[in-house]
Amino acid sequence: MRLRKARAQDVSAIHRLIAVYSRDGTLLPRSLDDIQTHRGQFIVAEAEGRLLGCGALHSYPNGLVEIRSIAIAPDCQHGGVGTRLVRRLLQKAQRGDAKRIFLFTRSPDFFACLGFSVVPAASLPEKIWKDCRLCPRRLCCDEIPMVFGAAAGAHAFPTQPGLASPHVLPG
Ligand SMILES: CC(C)(COP(=O)(O)OP(=O)(O)OC[C@H]1O[C@@H](n2cnc3c(N)ncnc32)[C@H](O)[C@@H]1OP(=O)(O)O)[C@@H](O)C(=O)NCCC(=O)NCCS
Repeated sequence: MRLRKARAQDVSAIHRLIAVYSRDGTLLPRSLDDIQTHRGQFIVAEAEGRLLGCGALHSYPNGLVEIRSIAIAPDCQHGGVGTRLVRRLLQKAQRGDAKRIFLFTRSPDFFACLGFSVVPAASLPEKIWKDCRLCPRRLCCDEIPMVFGAAAGAHAFPTQPGLASPHVLPG
């Protein structure tokens, strides 16, 4: 298995992988056009010509970087692909001078093992303004906001779905 930048011919396979998990709300849906436009943000895991997984980085101003669209083919889960993919994205973000790396997830235990800590959604207003405020699930969101290497004490925030702060900006 190797990790590499996504190529134009990967776009359909990335779209299919993300679609597997967007049907039940695990991942935000991404259109083919959106993936094509942001292909440069993606890395993929490939073995013998098959795409096993994908993941992307999205940069905001001031060194804030989001890890998103992590998807491992259902028959390849628990084989270490997700861990390698996330570690590679972390390296890539850090080489790009990321000051703060975050994600929203319904698999917080997986990311906690990789060094992420739960934070309040309100600490990530950039994400809320970009995605959450337009999301139909914003008032019943069960995604957990997490930051890489967040300071001790962050675990005071709940990790169970449904208990995270609503991703709505005040006012
Ligand atoms: C979550 C996900 C990325 C993990 O990828 P993976 O390749 O299966 O993970 P790894 O094999 O590297 O896992 C290493 C360990 O992490 C933990 N882990 C893996 N998936 C987990 C999950 N969904 N929840 C909690 N812990 C998990 C396990 O302890 C696992 O060890 P094990 O296989 O011995 O049980 C993958 O299951 C996936 O694509 N899920 C659906 C989409 C998703 O939730 N994406 C993340 C949101 S951004």
